[in-house]
Amino acid sequence: MSRRAEFEAEHPEVHVLSADQAGRVDLVMGAVGWLGDEEQVTTCASLGGESSTVMRVELQELRGGWRTAVLKQSLPWLRRDESVAMPGDRWRGEHAFYSAVARVPEAAALMPRLMAANKARFLLLLEDFRGASNLVSLYLGGSLGEGAAEALGLFLWALRCGTRGERDAEFAPGGMNRLSHRLLFEAPFGSPGEGGNGFGPDGPAPDEGALDDIEPGLGAAASALRSDGAFREAVAELGRRFLGAGDCLVHGAFHPGNWLRLPNGDVRVVDPQYGGWGDAEFDIGTAAAHLLLARQPGEVVKSFLAAAAGVDVEDGEEPGEAEGGGPGLDRALIAGYAGVEIVRRLIGGGQLPLEAAQLPKAEGGFRCDLLEAARTAVVSGRLEVLET
Ligand SMILES: Nc1ncnc2c1ncn2[C@@H]1O[C@H](COP(=O)(O)OP(=O)(O)OP(=O)(O)O)[C@@H](O)[C@H]1O
Ligand SMILES: [Mg+2]
Repeated sequence: MSRRAEFEAEHPEVHVLSADQAGRVDLVMGAVGWLGDEEQVTTCASLGGESSTVMRVELQELRGGWRTAVLKQSLPWLRRDESVAMPGDRWRGEHAFYSAVARVPEAAALMPRLMAANKARFLLLLEDFRGASNLVSLYLGGSLGEGAAEALGLFLWALRCGTRGERDAEFAPGGMNRLSHRLLFEAPFGSPGEGGNGFGPDGPAPDEGALDDIEPGLGAAASALRSDGAFREAVAELGRRFLGAGDCLVHGAFHPGNWLRLPNGDVRVVDPQYGGWGDAEFDIGTAAAHLLLARQPGEVVKSFLAAAAGVDVEDGEEPGEAEGGGPGLDRALIAGYAGVEIVRRLIGGGQLPLEAAQLPKAEGGFRCDLLEAARTAVVSGRLEVLET
């Protein structure tokens, strides 16, 4: 029996939704009380979530009123490939994040408003950022822009200042935390080709030949890294730290796939399904990794990092305790988290649509060079862009 059929047999009350069945969505939204009087779901359009079913629903009133919302259903499998399991508690984590972030207005302002939630059916109803697109386009070229980078940095600064030391006992680390650990600290170092079902959203790590097809020399560089004792020990140590961390609320997947650009150019943040309590340095490191993978201009990366550290643009100073800075950010830790994310994306199963063909010839060794920088970041806590 398929994973889905088994689940449906066990949970007859949960209706598995899809965007091509607007009638079913209408019935379910009505049943949970999310439709107004004389209101009906008229159309649903998939927004293309990889792991969850995410759709824009259009609602119409008999009297002519009209609105849209985003409906997200997170079931214990990967939407893109239902044979792959996902943690059964991921809905809980995403819901808990939205509840917690509501207490930090400067961060909540950049996220969709949670309009309603239904635990029994794994559903969230979110404010729709109409006309927005996610920023995966950055991997294919184009600049995020300094203003947007700064806004994303300020989001993390606000999240850290607004939640530090206020861990919510209800919000225990769950399956998504362990999945993140597996994706970052274990899966990229398993035997190439191994993985399959065990690795959630990432596929199996490509073998040496496949990596060489992506970029000549990358296969050998990956093999060398996998058998590099000092590197593997540093990864394991960072992984142990990751599992035990819990100083403030973190988003958990702070990268372009979860950043949206609105038609007016402003940025927004979605998808805190990996969210929970951890190191603020984790989100900063993840974003820095993706900005480097997307070959963003140095000024963009610097704007992001300065804002995330609460640095005053006027005097360039990091804030002290009085300005809400608290203990300074640990640069070596940011470097380490950035390093493991870069490694995951370059040699692991979490490959990104980086457009090699668009690179000028001189940049042919981009991935090998970045992999070397990632090794240094993990082993020595140094990453060039963090040094100035
Ligand atoms: N509130 C929103 N308003 C507009 N678009 C949204 C909204 N939430 C999500 N989207 C769009 O839907 C896409 C998928 O959403 P989301 O990231 O929450 O899904 P997911 O399946 O959990 O993620 P992933 O694809 O990263 O596994 C986003 O990349 C974005 O383009
Ligand atoms: Mg997402």
